[in-house]
Amino acid sequence: MSRELKSLFLLDPGVVYLNHGSFGACPAPVFADYQHWQRELEREPVQFFGARSGPLMAESRAALGKLLNASGDDLVFFANPTTACNMVARSLKLGPGDEVLSTDHAYGAMERTFLFLQKSARFTYTRRAMPLPFTTPAAWVERFLEGVTPATKVIFIDHITSASAVIFPVAEVIRRARAAGIFTIIDGAHAPSQIALDLAALDPDLYIGACHKWLCAPKGSAFLYARREHHKWLMPLVVSWGYLPDAEPGEHNLIDYHEWQGTRDMAPFIATRAAIQFQREHDWDTVRADCHALLRDLRARVQALTELPPLYPDDQADHWYSQMATLPLPEVDLNELRQKLWGEHKIEAPLHRFGEHNVIRISIQGYNTEADADALVAGLKAGLGR
Ligand SMILES: Cc1ncc(COP(=O)(O)O)c(C=O)c1O
Repeated sequence: MSRELKSLFLLDPGVVYLNHGSFGACPAPVFADYQHWQRELEREPVQFFGARSGPLMAESRAALGKLLNASGDDLVFFANPTTACNMVARSLKLGPGDEVLSTDHAYGAMERTFLFLQKSARFTYTRRAMPLPFTTPAAWVERFLEGVTPATKVIFIDHITSASAVIFPVAEVIRRARAAGIFTIIDGAHAPSQIALDLAALDPDLYIGACHKWLCAPKGSAFLYARREHHKWLMPLVVSWGYLPDAEPGEHNLIDYHEWQGTRDMAPFIATRAAIQFQREHDWDTVRADCHALLRDLRARVQALTELPPLYPDDQADHWYSQMATLPLPEVDLNELRQKLWGEHKIEAPLHRFGEHNVIRISIQGYNTEADADALVAGLKAGLGR
């Protein structure tokens, strides 16, 4: 949280950028590393693809594994969470009578994958209503798991949701699901680096994460983590050289099946190492804590302005949010407010309707400062006529 950190990002300094959650933002040194690998490819494409990219990808997976407390052999890079979700959903052997249980907070693009596939496979996709406001993680888990039926074969939930920007208590859900023989897929697009993610402790069946959001990698870097016993049945979305026609089913390796998808840009994956390094060098545990403190304070200031109760409480354990939070707004015309915030104040923060609430989602990343918080409070004050 400093001007020095702000100056390392490529964002337009004229914009009050409070929307890291949508597409992340890449610091200049990480972006330079990304371009370096693109140039290395262009210098000698045959050597790059034939000899260098494989070890570089393995090093990047190992670095990611170290960050997330997982083996690099259980991680495979995908260009984005949407693609990883498509591969996973298409690999599941689901049919009539089976249910995928999710929530009404799931990200629309991921949800659509299941809605698309259920038409042909005829399983049921259930969006369990989890209405805001939330109180305690324990109450949340009980309400969610009351939705489990004998048909529930898969639980698909977010670790940190998009529109509502809330951390779901996934550890307990995973634990209880495993005890009940239910398979878990976690959409962790917003989790890596926004929270200290420990995959070994969580131990989900499958976990999808983005590196191009809170880890600040270049666009086009995401991953799937798969428990060892699931490697053999995850079918490649794109069949390529990694498929060995003469191998017995289950003999192939997770990386072979999914990593090589024909000629493509591997630079975002390789540069993910530089993103991890960048955050380590800049003491990201402290940055994350400072961002949370700024957001916590901003939440209180906006709440004082709107006089609306929060959608989830602050608590000592920081259960519900880290660097991104969704705050309720009064019943105003959101289009008008959006135009004012952007047109008059150059504030980039998403406004939308969530359930019964008008809301604003605020992201705080290391490049944000007190001045950004002040600008948002001033913009809302003017926009809401307070
Ligand atoms: C919760 C969640 N899941 C998945 C995605 C999809 O990410 P991508 O568009 O990079 O595939 C997003 C994107 O914002 C998201 O917020």
